[in-house]
Amino acid sequence: MSSSTTRKILVTSALPYANGSIHLGHLVEYIQTDIWVRFQKMQGHTVHYVCADDTHGTPIMLRAEKEGITPEALIEAVHKEHSQDFADFLVQFDNYHSTNSIENKELASGIYKALKAGGKIATKTIEQFFDPVKNMFLPDRFIKGECPKCHAKDQYGDSCEVCGATYNPTELINPFSAVSGAAPVRKETEHYFFKLSECSDFLREWTRSGTLQAEAANKMTEWLGEVGENKLSDWDISRDAPYFGFEIPDAPGKYFYVWLDAPIGYMASFKNLCERQGLNFDEYWAKDSKTELYHFIGKDILYFHALFWPATLEYSGYRTPTSVFAHGFLTVNGEKMSKSRGTFITARSYLDHIKNPEYLRYYYAAKLNGSMEDIDLNLEDFVARVNSDLVGKYINIASRTAGFITKQFDGKLCGVVNGDLSREDSHLDVITQELIQSADEIKRLYEMRDYAKALRKVMELTDHVNFYIADKKPWEIAKQVGQDGNLRMVCSVAINCFRLLTIYLKPVLPRLVTQIESMLNVQPLLWSDANTLLSDGHEINEYSHLITRVELKAIEAMTEANKENLQATPVPQVHSEQRHAVHQQNEVKAELPEVEYISIDDFTKVDLRIAKIVNAEYVEGAEKLLRVSLDIGEDKPRQVFAGIKSAYDPESLTGRLTVMVANLAPRKMKFGMSEGMVLAASDERGGPFILSPDSGAMAGMKVK
Ligand code: 2FM
Ligand code: ZN
Repeated sequence: MSSSTTRKILVTSALPYANGSIHLGHLVEYIQTDIWVRFQKMQGHTVHYVCADDTHGTPIMLRAEKEGITPEALIEAVHKEHSQDFADFLVQFDNYHSTNSIENKELASGIYKALKAGGKIATKTIEQFFDPVKNMFLPDRFIKGECPKCHAKDQYGDSCEVCGATYNPTELINPFSAVSGAAPVRKETEHYFFKLSECSDFLREWTRSGTLQAEAANKMTEWLGEVGENKLSDWDISRDAPYFGFEIPDAPGKYFYVWLDAPIGYMASFKNLCERQGLNFDEYWAKDSKTELYHFIGKDILYFHALFWPATLEYSGYRTPTSVFAHGFLTVNGEKMSKSRGTFITARSYLDHIKNPEYLRYYYAAKLNGSMEDIDLNLEDFVARVNSDLVGKYINIASRTAGFITKQFDGKLCGVVNGDLSREDSHLDVITQELIQSADEIKRLYEMRDYAKALRKVMELTDHVNFYIADKKPWEIAKQVGQDGNLRMVCSVAINCFRLLTIYLKPVLPRLVTQIESMLNVQPLLWSDANTLLSDGHEINEYSHLITRVELKAIEAMTEANKENLQATPVPQVHSEQRHAVHQQNEVKAELPEVEYISIDDFTKVDLRIAKIVNAEYVEGAEKLLRVSLDIGEDKPRQVFAGIKSAYDPESLTGRLTVMVANLAPRKMKFGMSEGMVLAASDERGGPFILSPDSGAMAGMKVK
């Protein structure tokens, strides 16, 4: 390939958080990107594919604390786990780095200083929830309480998982810190802001330059508003200590918010690669760079990549991305991945049960079309598709023909082209011709990330080759006397076609193709090899079994094991405070909660008691609470703060029997200690309604 057509491309996938395992949902993106990168490398382009662990933020700090280790030890362990998972799924990064790296610290500080020098940083005093026991400000995700809309208990500070409502943490009823259980207080603090509100014109221009998919460009227009309108708010880029991250230069006790340094991690990973391989960092990141830069992401983080990130780069003196490619979410069997159904499957669990990563690579590729639509992994369809396409059709070509060549012709093919391929009068079997001529169309589809169409075309060609074999029947020719030449020609055509199909499948099935290259006795295949055929006398090696069928049993065992795993060791769930901070713009869907069954043992852990309300009174300053004193046969009554003020007069409660949870850990609330919980019913039809036992029940009796 001449240097004028050799592109220089830097590609990234989103950086996974360093506090959870890689699961099948993550893998959609890494597989999508890896296929594209391998495809571009096969074109002979210079491609660097970089990624890293996203290591900063409150969830990682708290998770480390809970495990009794330092955040550094946690992220190191997770880095090893993630690297192994990616390697085993054949996701081949040129560098897998960490955002907690020296390169990232320097780049983040440099970018911040450039933004500040350009007048793009402001400070503002804001009020935030603060945990008085933990002595830390609380991200929305770490404040819980009762949903102000449907009154479901234990909901996050930004959205309700039961009714799907979104709200501010200040609207939660009886808010408490998910870290300590304490009632949060409001406290003032100074924060640093990136003046995104001044970037609308630039972002409008950037959107118009064709950098985004149509659906993403529409979202941008929604976020940016009409020309002249300014819908963007400044972006809060600081967090207070204690925080695991980088301290802001000249701002002791203030740290960069994780989403500020996360995308800079793309640059840092590449910088680290440059240092190791002697590449020129500026060639890829300087404002006037002629190279291409692509970010593959999930649609839920489009806001960060299409607004904050290009604006950050633009105003700190760097180039902006050539394109951002967003994909949809993964569903399994048509539904959100579910722990109770066993479809929340980690990368490792898939490998333990199904073994072969290329089945999943193939299935995802067959579903991905370069749009932001969600894709579904239907497990039965997965089994059927992999067995039919890969085993039944593609490998079948080699397994039905290679043996004749190795056993009867010393492995030597005959030439399948009569004359020079480039001459019109050369004779080539029509099937081989069709395969060669399809190279450009398949290439165009890979380039556009429409792998679904590319693979449909490849499978259509595979069908044609199988029709050819079925028509020629080499196994019958082999029985006929004097037909050696014919047999050798038919099998040589089939093997040549198999080689062409192999080129087209190589980005998706790199490991299988390596085995096939050695069977075909050829150098690593490039896309340009689709213009050539194996020569007369080319010797192939013996065919040995290349792939086995997936068994439905293995799938069933995997989903079963994931149900069991759930009880033994819960899959760490990455709840990102970060993503939910922009939930209004993102695709946060209202979902009904899954039924998560508990065992009888779990139930009996809850100590429910008949309680006599010996006193109930208003609490000064509390909007929703009553202070209730409950007699459950102990020396002195329990004090409980109950969110029932809207429905009950304190006087009407005194003397009543009700039901309380007696062994709930005492919680320090703004108005005092709460030593249990009064049960009450509610939903959108009304409530809360406290419970009353039948007559005869007495204070202190156990409810079971
Ligand atoms: O949403 C997430 O999983 C983030 N860790 C993605 C970060 S991508 C990039 F910006 F660093
Ligand atoms: Zn709700």
